Amino acid sequence: MSDSLAYESVDSHLKGRFGRPYTYADECESTQLLLEDAPEGAVAVCGVQTAGRGRYGRVWDAPAGTALLCSIVLHPPAEREAPELTLVGAIAAAEAVEGATGLAAQIKWPNDVMLNRRKVCGVLGELRDGVVTLGIGLNVNQTREQLPSDAHTPAASLRTITGQAYDRAALLGSLLFRLERLYDQWRHGGLDEVYVEIGPRDFLRGRHVTVDGTSGVATGINCDGRLELDLGEGERVFVETGEVTYDR
Ligand code: BTN
Repeated sequence: MSDSLAYESVDSHLKGRFGRPYTYADECESTQLLLEDAPEGAVAVCGVQTAGRGRYGRVWDAPAGTALLCSIVLHPPAEREAPELTLVGAIAAAEAVEGATGLAAQIKWPNDVMLNRRKVCGVLGELRDGVVTLGIGLNVNQTREQLPSDAHTPAASLRTITGQAYDRAALLGSLLFRLERLYDQWRHGGLDEVYVEIGPRDFLRGRHVTVDGTSGVATGINCDGRLELDLGEGERVFVETGEVTYDR
């Protein structure tokens, strides 16, 4: 198994528009910074990041050559809700994880992919001048010792869960192909078009959660991407975005 994500190793796995042009760096600050003025579908990938970004200013760290660290440029139509793209990215990543492992992956609203109740992937959407840079960090071949132990949500890699190592180039090809298909559907009809992929994977549904100080039971992600909370006594709220903690 070749374990490089340089273009020569990835080219044969690129089946659609996404991934062209393709930028690879052995090391960079963050793949989010490699795509200035790039066209839709452009992808940046690296071996290791020195300042990988997570949500809420957190650091996203993975030892060289162990994870999938990539960013994709999207130019969503003005009539669409660009922040929904983190969910679209999470569905694509969940599908790619399922394709590789044969296990059911879940989506923890709004941007995490969970396997066996642990986070294996995070999605970061950054919007500037109508252009979204969608960053995806997927823990693939890290050992237990190589994963963050202080993560907000307990972390795992595909390898720690299944005991197998995975071909990151093939996984990247699968991820980009699925993302392209889901993005095209979303472009056409918004979150409604991909909604069927979210419900059965909703990790938080039925769990007692707290989102930025509001606590209740998560009853689902609605078709405009908001998390619905049942606060009890007939009271419901719809949360647009936020940091979720949940009862394990
Ligand atoms: C999160 O769960 O907080 C989102 C993490 C997103 C990490 C990826 S890794 C590739 C891309 N480059 C970055 O600096 N961040 C994203």
